[in-house]
Amino acid sequence: MGPLRVPGDKSISHRALILAVLGRGRSRIRGLLRSADIESTAEVLRALGATIPDLAEETIEIEGVGLRGLRGAARPLDCGNSGTTARLMAGVVAGAGITARFVGDASLSARPMRRVSAPLEAMGARVELSAHGGLPMTVCGESLQGITWRSDIASAQLKSAILLAGLVGDVPVEVHEPAMTRDHTERMLQARGVDVRTEGLVVTIVPRATLDAGDIEVPGDPSSAAFFVGLVAIGGAPEIALANVGVNPGRTGAFHVLRRMGVRLRYADELVQGGEPVATLIATAGTLRSAIISPDEVPSLIDELPLLACVAACAEGETRVTGAAELRVKESDRISAIVSNLRAIGADAEELPDGFVVRGSDRPLAGTVTTHGDHRIAMAFGVLGVLSRNSIVFDDPSCVAVSYPTFWDDLARVRRR
Ligand code: S3P
Repeated sequence: MGPLRVPGDKSISHRALILAVLGRGRSRIRGLLRSADIESTAEVLRALGATIPDLAEETIEIEGVGLRGLRGAARPLDCGNSGTTARLMAGVVAGAGITARFVGDASLSARPMRRVSAPLEAMGARVELSAHGGLPMTVCGESLQGITWRSDIASAQLKSAILLAGLVGDVPVEVHEPAMTRDHTERMLQARGVDVRTEGLVVTIVPRATLDAGDIEVPGDPSSAAFFVGLVAIGGAPEIALANVGVNPGRTGAFHVLRRMGVRLRYADELVQGGEPVATLIATAGTLRSAIISPDEVPSLIDELPLLACVAACAEGETRVTGAAELRVKESDRISAIVSNLRAIGADAEELPDGFVVRGSDRPLAGTVTTHGDHRIAMAFGVLGVLSRNSIVFDDPSCVAVSYPTFWDDLARVRRR
C-alpha cells in the first residue's frame, strides 16, 4: 500500500477561501480540506455576498469580489465550532466597513474574543461582545486607522485578524507577537502581491488597492499527520509514510518532540508549494521515552498537545508541559480534558495551571473518553485505542468532522497494514 494522504491543512484552507474571495479575478484551490470548520468559513463568506461552489468539487474556482466588494449580511454569520472563522472574519468585516453579527456553537461561544475586539476597536471599528467577552459578537466596520499592536498572546488568529483588517481597511498595521506563531497568512498574502514583512517578532503590512487572485494547492495538514506519527511512536504501527504534508516551521514542533521521544522521522521529496514547504514524512518506531516540552516550543505544537499527552501516557518517565495556558481556551479546556480523560482510562496525569504532567507506563488503558465535542481530544485518544492491550470508547466519535471527517477510516486502514 502507498503512503497515506491526510486531508488538506485547516489553517491554509480557511485562508485560501478568504483570500480567493478578496482577490481580483479567479482563484483556483486544489486539495482544500472538506470539513465542518471549512464549511463554516465558506458559509460566512457566502452570507457576505461571495459565490463559493460546493466544497466537494476537486478544484474549487472562486471569482473574487475584491477587497472592497463584501456586503453586510442580513443573517448572522454562523461560525459553528471554528475560532479561525470567527477571528479572521472579524478582521475582514471590520476592514470592509460593514456590519455583521457573529454566532457559533456552545464551545465557540465560550471562547475569548476580546483579544480581537480590542485591536479592531483601537483601529476604529465598533465591536459589541457578550458579557463574558465572547460570541455573539457584532462588528461594525468604520473607516479604520492604522495601528501598532503589541500582543501578549501568541495567536496566529489574532495576528491574522489585524493583518486582514489592515489589508481590507486600506491602512498599515504592525503586529508585535510575544512568540513566533504560524505564518500562513503572511506567506499567502506575499504570494498575492502584498507587501508583508516579518522582522523577528514584528509583522508589518502595507495595504494596496487590490489583492491578486492566485491558484493554490493546499498541503496535507501536519496537525492531522501528527496523529499517525504518534501512532508509530506508541508502537501501533511499525512504520508509516505520509505524502505531501506541510512542514512549515511554525507547525512542526510536535515532530521535533516526537523525535526526542524516540520516533525516527525523516522528510523525503521536499519541495516548496505556493510558498509553503511540503514533504513526505517517513516515521519508524524507536524506543519510546518521555520529554520535557518548554514554553518556547508551545506555539509550534499547540494543537498537537492532546496527542503528545496520549503518547506520553505510553512512555516511561515523566512528560511535562508548561507555558501552554492557551490550551484552556481551545475547542475545550484541553488541559482539563487531557488530564481527566487520561485518568478516566487509568493513566497517571496531573493538571498544572499552564500545562500538565503525564507519567507513562505500559499498562493497559481502558474506559470512556468524554470528548467535550473536541475533535483533537477524540483523535488523540483514538490513537491510544489502536493498541490491542487498550480498550477505549468515546462519547462522541463524530466530532472529528471538524477537521478530519475520515479520521476513523484512515486509522482503521493504517492499523490493518
Ligand atoms: C490557528 C491558530 C491557532 C490554532 C488553531 C488554528 C490558525 O489558534 O490553535 O487551530 O489557523 O491561525 P490561536 O491563534 O488561538 O493560537
